[in-house]
Amino acid sequence: MSTSTILELRGISKRFENIQALQDVSFNLREGETHALVGENGAGKSTLMRILAGIYTEYDGEYLLDNQPLHLRSPREALSRGIGMIHQELSVMPELTVAENLFLGRQLTNRLGAVDWGRMNRIAAEELRKLGFADIDVKAPLGNYSLGTQQVVEVLRAILSGARVLIMDEPTTALSPPEVERLIQLIDTLRQSKRSIIYISHFLEEIMRVADRITVLRDGQRVDTLERRETSITHIISLILGREVNATLPAALSRADGQTLLSVSNLTADVFREVNLTVEQGEVVGLYGAIGAGHFDLARALFGLYRIDSGMVAVAGQNFPANFSAAYAIRHGLAYATESRRQSLFMTEPIYRNVMMPHLHRLGRLLAPQPRTELELAAPQITLTGVHPNDPLNPVGQLSGGNQQKVAIARWLPFPPKVFIMAEPTRGMDVGAKNEVLSILRDFRNQGYGVLVVSSEPETVLSVSDRIVVMSRGRVVSELLNQNIDKDVLMRLL
Ligand SMILES: Nc1ncnc2c1ncn2[C@@H]1O[C@H](COP(=O)(O)OP(=O)(O)OP(=O)(O)O)[C@@H](O)[C@H]1O
Ligand SMILES: [Mg+2]
Repeated sequence: MSTSTILELRGISKRFENIQALQDVSFNLREGETHALVGENGAGKSTLMRILAGIYTEYDGEYLLDNQPLHLRSPREALSRGIGMIHQELSVMPELTVAENLFLGRQLTNRLGAVDWGRMNRIAAEELRKLGFADIDVKAPLGNYSLGTQQVVEVLRAILSGARVLIMDEPTTALSPPEVERLIQLIDTLRQSKRSIIYISHFLEEIMRVADRITVLRDGQRVDTLERRETSITHIISLILGREVNATLPAALSRADGQTLLSVSNLTADVFREVNLTVEQGEVVGLYGAIGAGHFDLARALFGLYRIDSGMVAVAGQNFPANFSAAYAIRHGLAYATESRRQSLFMTEPIYRNVMMPHLHRLGRLLAPQPRTELELAAPQITLTGVHPNDPLNPVGQLSGGNQQKVAIARWLPFPPKVFIMAEPTRGMDVGAKNEVLSILRDFRNQGYGVLVVSSEPETVLSVSDRIVVMSRGRVVSELLNQNIDKDVLMRLL
């Protein structure tokens, strides 16, 4: 295997107003290698990659491409030098066709100067076939396809623009297991054609499958760079956290036999049918399904955000009226955190305002903000959930992805609900933060509240639930106590 270095960063430091995001970080990338970048939430991974991709143009240190110094001024310039970045929030256009997306911004023309769709469609189909995606119809709107396919198209777009270095920042957080497999195969194909890939992920099992080398960042510094063959997940975790970890979580309590806090009877909508489930006092129920099973829409429906056709929702014995609103659900003891934090947080508002947003009606004067009261109520929750950095006045948009998720949880703690519905509570979180969040949920349960964790990640459901309800294609297909079941058992139930 060739080991020539194509790209190198030396002694990179980057400061945002009051935060040293990167401190003297060195990193190099070889031709044809997949180099994983791991580290806790806020360790500096995305920042380093944004420098590589020409997004952040101000930093200290050296950037060398093919041994030549380089100072990129824009992502466009990066791409012209062969460096492309796939962001977690995809930048594809769902209403355009697959081929239109692939040639976005650089359409091919014929000899007369007219846009040549015939040629673009042919090239698109040929390239997709070469990469093993012959089943994708280049003339169909991209929005018809799953997130996983959209991601493939985004990768291919970068390749067609000439990228030989591809940066993927948490590419699999929203993908179903088969889609993850497809992406991993795609990475293999790209590696064979000598492309180099930088892969950021919190899923260490995935890292062990795709990576040739692994660089660990902690608090903005490089801790180590390891050959994958010579390391183990346990070792990587200890480097990420800077301490040994106890990976076993406390055992779940036996099933509580208190009051039924949430009861769902025959709930039916366009994407789910006749769903029955309950959450008892002091119980965490995991609602598990593959992406597309209807469980995320069910969660929205329980919070008044998705149209219910028939059936009944009751909280602590009280039936909700038909077509109840989210405000009604909050007032009657429900809380909901969506799987998409960008949707629920106000990025430019300070952390404390985000935390207090659902509770302003309790403070009386909705139209006259009371910053001091809000701050006093929010600050302990921000500390409790371990948001870092924890200055309540910082805008949420400046936090790293995982820390934004903690804010989405903290916001329900000032006035605890009876039942907390959480979709993908640990998506995008590092191992340490994951454990923190799961233990917050467990504390919550131990205080006698109910929790419904809605997820497509078997690990999440298995690590926190007392009982697991499995949904497939809009229906509940099984329900089991979380005892002696493992990932394989769970996935076979889908
Ligand atoms: N635009 C910004 N303004 C101010 N601070 C920022 C900005 N972007 C990042 N930071 C801070 O820099 C640090 C590194 O953030 P970065 O997004 O690189 O972390 P990360 O390793 O990608 O984390 P995650 O796994 O949560 O995505 C964090 O403390 C973050 O709050
Ligand atoms: Mg990041």
